[in-house]
Amino acid sequence: MQKYNQQEVDCRRTFGIISHPDAGKTTLTEKLLLFGGAIQMAGAVKARKAARHATSDWMAMEQERGISVTSSVMKFNYRDYEVNLLDTPGHQDFSEDTYRVLTAVDSALMVIDSAKGVETQTRKLMEVCRMRNTPIITFINKLDREGLEPLDLLADIEETLQVECAPLSWPIGMGKRFKGTYNLYRKELLLFSPGKETRGSDLLRITDLSDPQLDQLLGSQAEELRHDIELLEGAANPFELEEYLKGNQTPVFFGSAINNFGVRELLDAFVELAPGPSARQTTTREVSPYEEAFSGFVFKIQANMDPMHRDRIAFMRICSGKFTRGMKMRHHRIGKDINVSNATIFMAQDRSNVEEAYPGDIIGVHNHGTIKIGDTFTDKEPLKFTGIPSFAPEHFRRVRLKNPLKVKQLEKGLVQLAEEGAVQLFRPLISSDYILGAVGVLQFDVIVSRLKNEYGVDALYEGIEYATARWIECADKKKLAEFEKKNQGSLALDAEGNLTYLASSDWRLGHVAEQWPEVKFHKTREHN
Ligand code: G4P
Repeated sequence: MQKYNQQEVDCRRTFGIISHPDAGKTTLTEKLLLFGGAIQMAGAVKARKAARHATSDWMAMEQERGISVTSSVMKFNYRDYEVNLLDTPGHQDFSEDTYRVLTAVDSALMVIDSAKGVETQTRKLMEVCRMRNTPIITFINKLDREGLEPLDLLADIEETLQVECAPLSWPIGMGKRFKGTYNLYRKELLLFSPGKETRGSDLLRITDLSDPQLDQLLGSQAEELRHDIELLEGAANPFELEEYLKGNQTPVFFGSAINNFGVRELLDAFVELAPGPSARQTTTREVSPYEEAFSGFVFKIQANMDPMHRDRIAFMRICSGKFTRGMKMRHHRIGKDINVSNATIFMAQDRSNVEEAYPGDIIGVHNHGTIKIGDTFTDKEPLKFTGIPSFAPEHFRRVRLKNPLKVKQLEKGLVQLAEEGAVQLFRPLISSDYILGAVGVLQFDVIVSRLKNEYGVDALYEGIEYATARWIECADKKKLAEFEKKNQGSLALDAEGNLTYLASSDWRLGHVAEQWPEVKFHKTREHN
């Protein structure tokens, strides 16, 4: 097949950062943006984090909604590359959002605090990356502080995350004794001076580690470095690009984001090694980024700040072809063409001049309630991209109305918020209740506030005894009918009409699953 747009596709890198809160994601993001010259955006990233500290959690969420449309996709140029950094919400209660953002990237950067090793949130996000074999580059941060031994950190990553580590740089000491890093594949020494941001001129090319220059620069730590490298040559995995691209191996860098140390090295390796836009699977075929016909899918919907307009922005990842302002595209789920004249194209600093976007880029399309997460848009061919999951909720609430006359507005609000992915909605088979399911409880606070502000509905919650949910599938129609009859009280339909089993405990779920071996209980579900 002829490679359409080859140059535009090959120079794009679309990625997200995965980390546990406080590992240094915000700091690293800011430094990366500064290298790309996106100075204003770097400021916004910092301000956003500051807002989170300065105000209550709730206010922070509100503010975040404001800034996050602009900082949800941070686009910058670095060398000859066009980099799209997709932001992921930091709070674990919004992890479902994060999971979906990760479906729109081609690779990820994992930040680990050298004093903490692998932490829970990183582990969960890594599981998501594994679902799509997303290639990951690791940055071990905060070497300017005392931390775990580098070899122990690698062992921790390998064991906890089940991915092979291939160190591409190696730290020389840590904390007060931190002298810098040695880049193993470029054979360059990067010297660290505390409190001073590194520039390219601090790089020394030392191809032979027995070079006496090393002793002059590092003193007794030169011997330690030689010893470490010798050890690594025997013990560590050599870097293999293929294994990294398959998600089996992660190249590892060490540094200190706050000191901007090791960040350029990381960014250089990232643009060189990380994959460009990848081919994407649909229900019928794989779509290559080099195809001429346009295609894209929606992975995130963001409520707009302006309370006067109930407008939302749908974030669409372009998978093939070229987007031009004003073009028509087909919205397959509803079978209509839409004219995308006022899309926000998340592009470099100067937005006004940008009229085109390519595979790997993200565009923001105004959504008046017709676009759902997972929707596919193309030129003509009816396609449906796969791999955009919903996760079984772990928290549940029953919704009650203060004013029963508002039931229509409530229903409308809940359906739209569910389509946006802000919460999951279930309607029990045997009652007219509205049951909400969430992966994190903060989602419930957001829903109550948005129902009030955007739909004029005062809603209350009641606790409910459910602990988990599973989507039901059964090829044998007779068995399914039997299952439904026997378990009516625990069954509900989700917002898309899929049959769901709501269980009061994991034990109960296990018990029912054992009783009904023909019935499949799914923990994740693809959007219809
Ligand atoms: P996050 O987005 O992953 O949650 O982390 P963030 O970048 O906000 O960093 C968390 C804390 O770790 C911040 O300190 C930040 O300054 C610090 N930090 C980041 N990189 C490094 C590093 O390389 N070395 C050291 N020593 N610290 C680092 P804070 O006190 O929570 O906030 P702030 O007042 O410094 O902003």
